[in-house]
Amino acid sequence: MARDHSARQQDARARKGRVIAIDGPAASGKSSTAQWVAQQLGYRHVDSGALYRALTAARLRKPDDTEGWTERDVLSEGNRVRLVPHGTSFAPLIDGERVETELRGSDVTRLVSRVASMPGVRDWVNAQVRLAAVEHDVVVDGRDIGTVVFPDADLKIFLVADSWERARRRLIQRMDRSPTDDEIAEETERLVHRDAKDATQTVQAKDAVLIDTTRLTQEEQVERIVALARAVTQRTKGTSDVDQE
Ligand code: CDP
Repeated sequence: MARDHSARQQDARARKGRVIAIDGPAASGKSSTAQWVAQQLGYRHVDSGALYRALTAARLRKPDDTEGWTERDVLSEGNRVRLVPHGTSFAPLIDGERVETELRGSDVTRLVSRVASMPGVRDWVNAQVRLAAVEHDVVVDGRDIGTVVFPDADLKIFLVADSWERARRRLIQRMDRSPTDDEIAEETERLVHRDAKDATQTVQAKDAVLIDTTRLTQEEQVERIVALARAVTQRTKGTSDVDQE
């Protein structure tokens, strides 16, 4: 814990770029919003959840008992997972390969919260994310980015949405037709269950801007965040101009 704190301070000192943190519960639209915001601002997107998923997927490739995984088992996969720049994002690779579809699979989704509750795993992911921000302006999405990973982020957003709406959006992402009410109800149950497992780490920072996206289009939520980011940039640019005088 103490070591993580001092490592955090060192990383914060090494950081040259700006950070926008977007946190919130499952399927609140964090990743797609973060991706668009990054594109509009010329930043890079880092999806911290994808790293938890990549460690889980790497371990799942080993035919062993998923119930008995220890923190050490999961961390032993760390040397197979790498976060590399890809377009306007960073993408995790497993054994040097892109693994987008594997990361979204139901086995990974079922097991990822348990993996993410392991303190050593969280330290590992946080170190990879902080490293990505050393050289780049980044939009990072996750659960605890504004509280633990970058408590000094330039802008913090906490995205929420009604659980039915989150389930509906998640299903539309996955299927090429409109989901039925029964399907949405089932997915809502799964999401609420995962929210409960992730509750400890899903924390709104005191200085985060809360945005409820239930009745917003994706364009509207992206626009709001981009406007907030531009306002912060203007304000801090003003401050650093004064500092330099
Ligand atoms: O997109 P979705 O909300 O479904 O999840 P994700 O961002 O891909 O994250 C997958 C899982 O990783 C979550 O259910 C959490 O258990 C974990 N996670 C976390 O604990 N902390 C983060 N900063 C990001 C993800």
